Amino acid sequence: MTSTRELYAFLTFTAMMMVYHCKADFPPPPTGLTFKWLDPFAVNVSWQDPSGLQDSKVMYKIRLKGFEHPFNCRTKKYLKVSSLTEQIGSDPWTYQVWTVVGNCKSTNESNKVDITINSPKTQVKLKDTKCIIYTEGMNCSWNSTHQPFNLSYRTCPEETLKPLRTCDRPYSSAERSGCYLKDDEFKERKVDVCIHVETEAGWSTFKPRFVVPSPKLIIKEEKDDLRLEGEHQSIRNCKWNFTVCYTRCNKPEVCISKVGPSEIRYDKDCLYEFRSRTESRHCDLASDFSDVVKYGSNKPPDQTLMVVAIVVPIILSVCIILSCYCVRKHSSILCPIIPDPSAIFKEMMIHGNKDHKTTGNLYTPVPEPIESCKVTVVAENSDLLYRANLLT
Ligand SMILES: *[C@@H]1O[C@H](CO)[C@@H](O)[C@H](O)[C@H]1NC(C)=O
Ligand SMILES: *[C@@H]1O[C@H](CO)[C@@H](O)[C@H](O)[C@H]1NC(C)=O
Ligand SMILES: *[C@@H]1O[C@H](CO)[C@@H](O)[C@H](O)[C@H]1NC(C)=O
Ligand SMILES: *[C@@H]1O[C@H](CO)[C@@H](O)[C@H](O)[C@H]1NC(C)=O
Ligand SMILES: *[C@@H]1O[C@H](CO)[C@@H](O)[C@H](O)[C@H]1NC(C)=O
Ligand SMILES: *[C@@H]1O[C@H](CO)[C@@H](O)[C@H](O)[C@H]1NC(C)=O
Repeated sequence: MTSTRELYAFLTFTAMMMVYHCKADFPPPPTGLTFKWLDPFAVNVSWQDPSGLQDSKVMYKIRLKGFEHPFNCRTKKYLKVSSLTEQIGSDPWTYQVWTVVGNCKSTNESNKVDITINSPKTQVKLKDTKCIIYTEGMNCSWNSTHQPFNLSYRTCPEETLKPLRTCDRPYSSAERSGCYLKDDEFKERKVDVCIHVETEAGWSTFKPRFVVPSPKLIIKEEKDDLRLEGEHQSIRNCKWNFTVCYTRCNKPEVCISKVGPSEIRYDKDCLYEFRSRTESRHCDLASDFSDVVKYGSNKPPDQTLMVVAIVVPIILSVCIILSCYCVRKHSSILCPIIPDPSAIFKEMMIHGNKDHKTTGNLYTPVPEPIESCKVTVVAENSDLLYRANLLT
């Protein structure tokens, strides 16, 4: 009994020693984690050496908490991280930093230490942010927040931070707010731009979606066809694939994509509604769909057909219903009880039968009042005879 207890105690002690030993074997985590905003798009996260680690070759791993990848493995004790609202998706957000002994593949790692980063101002999200590229600049805008704003921007990512450039021509309309940025750098080569918008509500940092202006649709009528061509502005020698979608006489939409102009058969009795866009796979650029352009008109035959098909049956049925109602209501005037032939026949049959029956019965004459007839011989026969005649 005692030996079992001793053995148990010994095993526990060994296990504890092993745990302690293992813990001692792994390196301590980095210390003094801190962060500093470099500009609205970049934060410098930095830390100090782990305490009590003697001359081992250590490296550091850093990652956004909650994500397996990507993480960065480095010897430097800082990392410049991007703060773009749309990439992080939440505010504040947290990084994890830890020590690794040897190389990045080593599993001899410390515990992870968290560092939480707050924005100097509330992060707000702007909706539908986009920049339209023109030859001499770009027009960047978002769904209007109806608030005054300050906008600044730079290319990104940027190794060495340059001062931010500011907005040239801000505008604010009911639908969209934005700024026209006079800058032809974007026209020549593909660069990303980081935009910072500051309002009273907070700030927003984003990488806008780049689009080219929607092509201008040129419609030419040629005999029985329509020739559809998109007029593009020239950007970076891109080859444009022009897409035009149309509806004809309210039929489902059809789309055609071609590098050159497209031709479709023209039905002159139809109203056409066109929208168009352009795309360059090679330049990785596209436009949004243009506003709808109308061409031709729906011809009256369609309308008369519609009238015939829909309105006439309705009117007819209403008439029938009304006349039925009318006839019912005034049937006594319009049509005094029409004798039913079968009823007449029935009646005849019934009456005929009755007559037959009465004739069938024995005839019982109505008893006549009998008056005693006194024959008195009078002188004047004629008078008596007359009386007797009356009595009978
Ligand atoms: C981890 O590295 C430390 C420092 O170099 C070393 O003392 C320890 O034995 C290593 N532990 C493991 C489990 O390799
Ligand atoms: C980040 O901070 C560290 C420590 O303060 C400093 O050594 C480093 O130069 C900073 N990096 C940048 C890009 O500012
Ligand atoms: C932006 O505003 C337009 C109308 O002004 C609306 O149709 C659209 O859904 C809005 N976009 C977003 C992402 O809220
Ligand atoms: C920029 O775009 C907005 C709407 O998206 C438009 O109202 C404005 O006129 C454009 N400005 C320039 C300079 O093109
Ligand atoms: C825009 O910048 C000016 C000058 O720095 C400042 O006075 C103003 O408060 C800013 N406006 C907003 C909405 O942040
Ligand atoms: C044009 O775009 C359509 C639809 O996206 C695609 O099927 C077609 O291959 C493209 N043509 C060229 C020449 O890029």
